Amino acid sequence: MSKLSLAVDVAGLRLRNPVMNAAGVLGMSPPILKRVYDSGAGGVVTKSVGPVPRTGHQNPTLVRVSCGALNAMGLPNPGADYYVEEIKALKEMGVPTVASFFGGSVQEFADVARKLTEAGADALELNASCPNVADEMGMLAADAGNLERVTAAVKNETRLPVFVKLSPNVTNIKTVAKAAEWGGADAITAVNTLMGIAIDVNFRRPVLTNTTGGLSGPAVKPVALRCVWEVSQAVEIPVIGCGGIATWTDAVEYLLAGASAVEVGTAVMTHGFEVYGEIVEGLGAYMAENGFSRVEEVVGLAHDAGRDTQSKVDRCSIRV
Ligand code: SIN
Repeated sequence: MSKLSLAVDVAGLRLRNPVMNAAGVLGMSPPILKRVYDSGAGGVVTKSVGPVPRTGHQNPTLVRVSCGALNAMGLPNPGADYYVEEIKALKEMGVPTVASFFGGSVQEFADVARKLTEAGADALELNASCPNVADEMGMLAADAGNLERVTAAVKNETRLPVFVKLSPNVTNIKTVAKAAEWGGADAITAVNTLMGIAIDVNFRRPVLTNTTGGLSGPAVKPVALRCVWEVSQAVEIPVIGCGGIATWTDAVEYLLAGASAVEVGTAVMTHGFEVYGEIVEGLGAYMAENGFSRVEEVVGLAHDAGRDTQSKVDRCSIRV
């Protein structure tokens, strides 16, 4: 049997293992993201950067809820021009870097993608799914036609792998994923946060200034896992799973559902930076115990079982 390796190639992005942080949770400062890498992650994802500096929404922008967190940051960021230097710093530290980004128009998405490419990012994650700026810029992932156009415009400006991050807040995620693929996406990240509200009973008003926020953490895992399952059946490109991953078993579930890599976000709030190393270590042990030597061998395996179950169901219904 060949030697066990956790290394993956996700649409051209080579990582020492399939675990990254999710965009946003730890911001974008290079020393913090370097800590994620030093804690064991295979690569890092920056917070989403846009064309110009944004302050985001006023506090409160984050509240802990049962089984997760609700955030409505409003895409605060220093702007792409400033962030060029931060990407260069991450590259100098030897950290594989996925630059998450957004824009308010097709042209802005394309411009930011070009700047981040020139800065030296290893891959781009097109944030089509922030649920907290819908009034201002809409949510791209809710419109398949626009998403295809934006993805194509971005691909036109970069030679890097482009991951398109989708929203679970849509009727049919498969259609949206297909649109991104048609636009030239190299991979799909599934998914961003699920829209929710928290209410303060004493003040008798929503806790977040933005009223609604995006739910992340263990509460969203079954929803996000279902999204990965559906998207991986709908597209030919790799899928990166994101949503409620806190342990190695969560990560393995995502791989079995069809993800080629995973992103871990909210768990760093509850488990600390060690969560990355723990997941990687647990994944390695699982693979060794089960006779897998490469991560790709695990990807999508649960679909085979699903097909077996389905055919048994079909046979039963024929008999009835
Ligand atoms: C935010 O900045 O409001 C969250 C970003 C996101 O969910 O994409």
